[in-house]
Amino acid sequence: MLFDLLPEEASSSQPIALRHPIIFYEGHLPAFSFNTVVKRALGGGSIDERLEELFARGIDPAVAGSSPSDGQTGWPGRDEVRAFSAEADRRVLHALEHEDIERPGHALLDRAEAVFAILEHEAMHQETLLYMWHRLPIDHKIRPIGYAPRAAGSAPSVEWIDVPEGRATLGMDRGAMAFGWDNECPARTSDVDAFSIERHDVTNAAFLEFVDAGGYQDERWWAPDDWAWIRAAGVGHPLFWEENEGRWAWRGMFDRVPLPLSWPVYVSHAEASAFARWRGARLPSEAEFQRAAFGTPDGRERRHPWGDEDAAALHGVFDFASWDPEPAGSHPAGQSAWGVHDLVGNGWEWTSTPFSGFPGFQPMPSYPEYSADFFDGDHVVMKGASPATARELLRPTFRNWFRKHYPYVYATFRCVRDIR
Ligand SMILES: [Fe+2]
Repeated sequence: MLFDLLPEEASSSQPIALRHPIIFYEGHLPAFSFNTVVKRALGGGSIDERLEELFARGIDPAVAGSSPSDGQTGWPGRDEVRAFSAEADRRVLHALEHEDIERPGHALLDRAEAVFAILEHEAMHQETLLYMWHRLPIDHKIRPIGYAPRAAGSAPSVEWIDVPEGRATLGMDRGAMAFGWDNECPARTSDVDAFSIERHDVTNAAFLEFVDAGGYQDERWWAPDDWAWIRAAGVGHPLFWEENEGRWAWRGMFDRVPLPLSWPVYVSHAEASAFARWRGARLPSEAEFQRAAFGTPDGRERRHPWGDEDAAALHGVFDFASWDPEPAGSHPAGQSAWGVHDLVGNGWEWTSTPFSGFPGFQPMPSYPEYSADFFDGDHVVMKGASPATARELLRPTFRNWFRKHYPYVYATFRCVRDIR
């Protein structure tokens, strides 16, 4: 369905220079599943070794301007990729139906780890593909019938909520849930001091004050490497904002709309941090986010901010509920025990915590490079979910991460302050 949003000729385009062209992903999803489950876990034979290698992996190069495709001249034609993908899918489905995919003590199939890994890998790519589609020219996309963004409403006022000191659970032991990635294990708890957190995500209305106050021209608010980045890249406003005859517009998935003041702003970590500093506040740590989202006054922790019920549409903007954000605070049924809104859904939330493994971290055998390749101090933890996050990924321990200067993701933030 996601590939069907694009016309045929889009497959060779590369909407984000740091990512492969679109054709890569048509091959990558089936190839990753096939390589992981059929070849590695079950010891099955190859379909086409060249394509299995070509489509195995390709994300997140360190240096701007060095595309993962550099040195790769000429991708296979779409028919060749589709024939390979169809065969890979066929063999994966056959394995799921007929092979013994859950084998206690097996390196890759204990608790069916490799199978969960390919399912969640694909769900996560659905979101990263949508970030890419977002950058394509609006008139190059095929709009789903009947879709219109929900841009109405004024922004909620800024309110601060006190969360008392307490304990937050960040990780889980392997075995406590059906599946978790290696970076979610083992169990870890953290003592969190009392803090005050914004009830709502920072909206476009609030961020506009920072822009209008010259925030992007004032070095005081920016960490040195963030300042160097915005100067070098000429960044003067959020990437999702576009100026049109002196007025701000939001570049949505299928629409360019007058800036919806009530929507959460989507920005890079660098911009979120600068705003927070300007405001005399800071970004929450991962532990503070956990406490605000899943903690309760009686000390118990919940499965979701709203409680233990399964995630449903009334709780927030996730699971492809919308192609764009919705007004902040429009899903009060999803608020946390403290009354904080939209912690899961409507945009991932930047934290101040560098991405790393919890003490006792072990790379997972089915996908050993999944997390450990990014424990480099350049990546920061995001929590929550965006409109394009599949419901299977909504669990308290799930962690997402990106570089501080990567502006393409559906990521917002809120500020916290110490309570003295
Ligand atoms: Fe991947």
